[in-house]
Amino acid sequence: MCILITREQLTEALQELTEPVSGQSFTSLQWIRDVMIKPDNVSLTILLSPDAADSQVREQLITDAKSRLALYGVEQAHIRLRLASEQELIQAGLQEAGGSTMNQDPHAPQGHGAALDALSPLLHPDSRTTFIAVASGKGGVGKSTVTVNLAVALARLGKKVGLIDADIYGFSVPDMMGIEDRPAVVDERVVPIERFGVQIMSMGFFVEDNSPVVWRGPMLGKMLRNFFAEVAWGELDVVLLDLPPGTGDVALDIHQMIPQSKEIIVTTPHGTAAFVAARAGTMAMSTNHEIIGVVENMAYMQCGSCGEKEYVFGRGGGGKLAEALHAPLLAQIPLGAADNHPQEPDFSPSVYKADHPIGQLYLELAQSLIDKGQV
Ligand SMILES: Nc1ncnc2c1ncn2[C@@H]1O[C@H](COP(=O)(O)OP(=O)(O)OP(=O)(O)O)[C@@H](O)[C@H]1O
Ligand SMILES: [Mg+2]
Repeated sequence: MCILITREQLTEALQELTEPVSGQSFTSLQWIRDVMIKPDNVSLTILLSPDAADSQVREQLITDAKSRLALYGVEQAHIRLRLASEQELIQAGLQEAGGSTMNQDPHAPQGHGAALDALSPLLHPDSRTTFIAVASGKGGVGKSTVTVNLAVALARLGKKVGLIDADIYGFSVPDMMGIEDRPAVVDERVVPIERFGVQIMSMGFFVEDNSPVVWRGPMLGKMLRNFFAEVAWGELDVVLLDLPPGTGDVALDIHQMIPQSKEIIVTTPHGTAAFVAARAGTMAMSTNHEIIGVVENMAYMQCGSCGEKEYVFGRGGGGKLAEALHAPLLAQIPLGAADNHPQEPDFSPSVYKADHPIGQLYLELAQSLIDKGQV
């Protein structure tokens, strides 16, 4: 069967479908998202206010949407429901901005940041900042290393770059970049630390003596939101987000908070690692995050004298993963130390210098993203 419905007709079909809490139409709230019109089916996501999330309301809404679409000849409609994020509630005028705090104590009163505008300009719909989340299926594959070095490479090429260490429990960016300073607070906003031209925000800046972070799930989301709302980010072309491994709470929060984010998936060349990484990719796809490509890290070891490549961790994982995700293999980064010396100014254990062979590969990776218009 061939459906001849246009986007305009779809909007028309759903025009009178109203959001149960505010009574406003979903179309005017712009809460009909991810519309895909294919020859034999239509799929879309409807955002739902958290107060309207009981199962009866959900079922009713799906039935209602389907029957409205059926009137326009759509017989196969896949309707997904998703709770609107705080950001989306504010944008839709269904919730007031403010009410978060960057205070270290999760049980502390919430007054401090309440007056601040929770809608960070970075996340504003008109924002021209590109977000790229760096994800992987499992830990230790080099996400943080890739994020940090890609951020520095983009800055070396003249981009205005931000880096959010979204690994709230397992933050590693401050150590990798050799940052010992703590951010200043100006006008009740935290000023990101700048290193190699990259503006950086990490939970590590707010934790004393490397003590472990033991906050419960909901605090994680709150902390991430604070990284936007209560941080004085400058004007940025691109923000890279270093995600924790896997497809847990934080990854989901990011998907919800920054629906426009793109993703890079990092894997090692081992087949199993790539298989596990595919899960992170599938999650990105199911939330409609565009996967801009795969980076294969620890791809090989190059002999210093003869230049021969030794594939110590197996071979082909990155390529296979890229194929499975229908995305390009963006780079294959070999094993190699950054060779920085603690006595150097701006010492950073994990940032390759621009003229280091691996530093060069990161520059090529950054340039290729710029050339493709991804950044
Ligand atoms: N290409 C590389 N060559 C040599 N060592 C590397 C390379 N990439 C990463 N490493 C090292 O491997 C370890 C893990 O890297 P990294 O912390 O970046 O991984 P991750 O995926 O962010 O880990 P986690 O899942 O714990 O966040 C680090 O010690 C890092 O210095
Ligand atoms: Mg990491």
